[in-house]
Amino acid sequence: MNSLTNNTQRLTEHFQNDRKIIGAYPEDLKVALSSLDTQEALNEIKSWKGYKSTQLHSLQGFAKEIGVQDILYKDESTRFGLGSFKALGGAYGVLKFIQNQLTEDLNKNISIRDIRDGQYLDLTKNYTVVTATDGNHGRSVAYGAKLSGCKCQIYIHAEVSVGRQHAMEEFGATVIRIKGNYDESLRICIEEATKNNWQIISDTSYEGYTRYPRYIMAGYTVLAHEIAEQLDYKNMPTHIFLQAGVGGFAAALMAYFWEMFPEKNIKFIIVEPTLAPCLIESAKANELTVFDIKEETMMAGLSCGEPSLLAWKILNVGTDHFMTITDDRIPDLMRLLLKGMGNDPSIEAGECSASGLAALIEIKNNDCIAKQLNLNQNSRVLLFGTEGATDPDIYEAIINA
Ligand SMILES: Cc1ncc(COP(=O)(O)O)c(C=O)c1O
Repeated sequence: MNSLTNNTQRLTEHFQNDRKIIGAYPEDLKVALSSLDTQEALNEIKSWKGYKSTQLHSLQGFAKEIGVQDILYKDESTRFGLGSFKALGGAYGVLKFIQNQLTEDLNKNISIRDIRDGQYLDLTKNYTVVTATDGNHGRSVAYGAKLSGCKCQIYIHAEVSVGRQHAMEEFGATVIRIKGNYDESLRICIEEATKNNWQIISDTSYEGYTRYPRYIMAGYTVLAHEIAEQLDYKNMPTHIFLQAGVGGFAAALMAYFWEMFPEKNIKFIIVEPTLAPCLIESAKANELTVFDIKEETMMAGLSCGEPSLLAWKILNVGTDHFMTITDDRIPDLMRLLLKGMGNDPSIEAGECSASGLAALIEIKNNDCIAKQLNLNQNSRVLLFGTEGATDPDIYEAIINA
């Protein structure tokens, strides 16, 4: 038995989804997200200063060790210098809000480029955007507020690290730390926004609030589009592992690959921490289900107890397999990614970024599930390094432990 597949993780769960729809991306899901949203987001985001497609690595060393044909790793650690894929979502959501608001207030078409160029600073400084966050989304919203010249107020919960708080403050955001968990910070954020007439730019959607989460998901699809450009058609992945918090990232990526390549029948695996399993719980109950988080996972970005409504609609029928992973393998895998397996490159993978690899190993270690998912030596697996060292102190402590 090799070194990567001999660890049996306990307390993990698996759920094979019999609601999965095979074939074309359903018309009714296009209301939640479609390639038209991708096109609009792409046109905008590609014109931002510093835009560059992030690297897609082929990790042959890991692939050989684990027993698959290839592992493709999309590395978001360098995205706009913000350290995570979230840079694509929240900032885009803020700019869309400012554009919509100015268009309404001035009764004429306004371009985002003119907003970014500072042509409406006199007006934009009067708007306030707010959000609740574990860190990465807030950083992106703060960045968008800076780009557009509006005010920004961010609610974080008790466990969000000071390093992540400072990263948001660096962009000029006012950051308020509340007692309680993420869901409590979201509750307070909504309360304050309603009271003060501020605009919520949340990465999670709920009944009556879907407009901005949809833009944010559209922003995330830009990275899926990059992957489609980076790969030959014949080398498209056979399996995609998607880590999830509220599920916005996973749903956006799934929607893109499903809509663009339905004939490939790509298998989608949703990965959550055992400590925050709101999507697998929803899948088991066949309805959106809230999970009361009792303990924070070290994968801070995945610590969410309530799925995003729009995301759930897509994930419910597009997912092949839901699963959870424990925290205990994450530090080892972060160190291994940094060291590189064989000739693989050295990768700065933050806590959330090792989750896909942990899940792949878990499945390869379970013959029955691997067989159900057709995951074998012919598989090309796509994993997402959704963040780099987004909190450098925490990252260093883990790597040097
Ligand atoms: C680094 C990282 N990966 C993955 C996710 C999960 O994204 P979502 O909450 O859209 O499921 C997050 C969310 O904050 C994150 O910060």
